[in-house]
Amino acid sequence: MTSTSTVTHPSPTTPTSPTTPHTVSPAVTPTRQDDATGHRNGNGDANGHDHANGDAAPDTQPVPSVPPPAARPWWMDAVVYQIYMRSFGDANADGVGDLAGIVERLDHLVALGVDAIWLTPCFPSPQLDHGYDVADYFDIDPMFGDLGAFDRLVAAARQHDIRVLMDVVPNHCSSDHPWFQAALRAAPDSHERSRFFFRDGKGDHGELPPNNWRAVFGGPSWTRVTEPDGTLGQWYLHTFSPWQPDFDWSSPDVVEMFDAMLEFWFDRGVDGFRVDAVTVAGKAPGLPDAPPVAEGTPENDVWAHNPYSVFWPTAHDVWRHWRTRIDDYEQRHPGRHLVTVSEAYTPDRPDLLLQYVSPEEFHQSFCFDLMLAPWRVDAFKSTIDGVYEALTASGAALTWTLNNHDTQRAVTRYGRSDATLLSSWTKNNLVYTDTPVDIAVGTRRARAAIVLAAALPGAIYLYQGEELGLPEVLDIPNGARQDPIFVRTEGREIGRDGCRVPLPWTTDAATGFGFSDGTASPWLPQPAEFGEFSVEAQEHDSTSMLSLYRRLFAARRAQAFGALALDWVDIDHPDVLAFRRGDVLVAINVGPEAVALPSWLGHRVLLSSRVDHDDAAVLPSDTCAWLVGGSST
Ligand code: GLC
Repeated sequence: MTSTSTVTHPSPTTPTSPTTPHTVSPAVTPTRQDDATGHRNGNGDANGHDHANGDAAPDTQPVPSVPPPAARPWWMDAVVYQIYMRSFGDANADGVGDLAGIVERLDHLVALGVDAIWLTPCFPSPQLDHGYDVADYFDIDPMFGDLGAFDRLVAAARQHDIRVLMDVVPNHCSSDHPWFQAALRAAPDSHERSRFFFRDGKGDHGELPPNNWRAVFGGPSWTRVTEPDGTLGQWYLHTFSPWQPDFDWSSPDVVEMFDAMLEFWFDRGVDGFRVDAVTVAGKAPGLPDAPPVAEGTPENDVWAHNPYSVFWPTAHDVWRHWRTRIDDYEQRHPGRHLVTVSEAYTPDRPDLLLQYVSPEEFHQSFCFDLMLAPWRVDAFKSTIDGVYEALTASGAALTWTLNNHDTQRAVTRYGRSDATLLSSWTKNNLVYTDTPVDIAVGTRRARAAIVLAAALPGAIYLYQGEELGLPEVLDIPNGARQDPIFVRTEGREIGRDGCRVPLPWTTDAATGFGFSDGTASPWLPQPAEFGEFSVEAQEHDSTSMLSLYRRLFAARRAQAFGALALDWVDIDHPDVLAFRRGDVLVAINVGPEAVALPSWLGHRVLLSSRVDHDDAAVLPSDTCAWLVGGSST
């Protein structure tokens, strides 16, 4: 059904043409930490877990204030709000978001009616991939606060019945991580190097990478190190960038450290984890060369066709192991109901998606195909149908999302001149396109898309700022761009900064629109018109995107769709898709003209993405509505 019919993991990113492998030595990337256990404070146990320096779990075990329903876990239908740590709210006026900034703005999330928040990584990190390069899995980066600030956020959220999910990065760490620094100092074949993939190079003098794998952020997947004696030596594997060395999951140390990490944060009251880049965590034994890719495969997509890394099945052993640990934690802590959600792009392959979400592996796995789909009835229908059929047949949870921190924002995607073309599948989301954007059209469609998605069975994850209708910021000056994709490709690829610009809260430009206090500029520049999108500008405007989101999620809660089936309703129009969930008929019109609806569908518009839509007999262009009062025939 799509142009991406092969088994790939589409890049959240846009890799580039080969770059010259560079070398890394301990002297080049000095460690801030000097502890062979993986913990920055020393005094750690074998798992890099330190209870001695004041970061032990709080004395009082958090008591869940939300009694879970007996049969259906809370997360099955949850509304989860993704917080991009650097860009939500800045309490300490350094221009970067922080934990206290979230506490100050919790009311916004309460008004939105979210069940949980997912925090992008807030661990100590050199921030070369903005937190997805973790230097210590057991602490908080001072830029975001400290463990006390984290505990205060969990407690404050809990007072509002909002649960907290973190983001765990198991495929790789930062090259600043003490384990990697120790590996650089150690000899080939040492225990220290066994936690990563260090290999001798090919060629007479080991001057060629050990294999032909390509990195997601561009260039080869290998970087050569300078050995402690100053000579050029082995190479190490990094699926993403040289600053993100891959863990070797056959190392018992790695397994133990992550076991300890999960427990450490569960003990602090965390209710679950989003799990990063799960499809690349396994590697074929011997790390063989990847087969040649089909002619015409763009250079930036080559990595995704490597069958010896992408979807290599040994990663599933890790996730199954995690699930036993998590189930065991729940057993030991009655009342705790934890969730894991995996980031696995499985384009047009619901069968592959199903491999991740099951009682043995992840509780949830994002159904990214809806986010990647063009603005078309056939695309929406086949995507929703495929996922629904595959997952519900085995009782697996459905998990929808329309936006995240790796993807161009929906308003911009749907407003592109090619948004309705099959050829735009995935491309308009994940890589830069220079097709013209009509923000008014995109906004109308983004409103319709969320009204549709909120009515689907399962959970939904929102990404901060979509409730404000923020467009992608496409014109960030090159000098201000920070995404490693932009950096590694020397600007050939625009990267993901445009969806990560700090949120506007007020109309006051002098304070970064309420993001900060004006002492320091926001870490990414905000457009002059950002104030128009602010919470302050929207919250008393019943026509605004924010008002729609508030109404929508209140209605979703009131409907309590729960386990109700999705029943397709055929109204025989090429631009309209319709389904029933219990008493509610959901219909979307993606076409350019209004469509007359048969009266048996429904007599009353319960909710519509279009403000002036109150006639159940007609569905305007680019509109989604929930109707009630119809008959089921
Ligand atoms: C995931 C994250 C992305 C990050 C990458 C490497 O795709 O969502 O932001 O750059 O993994 O960790």
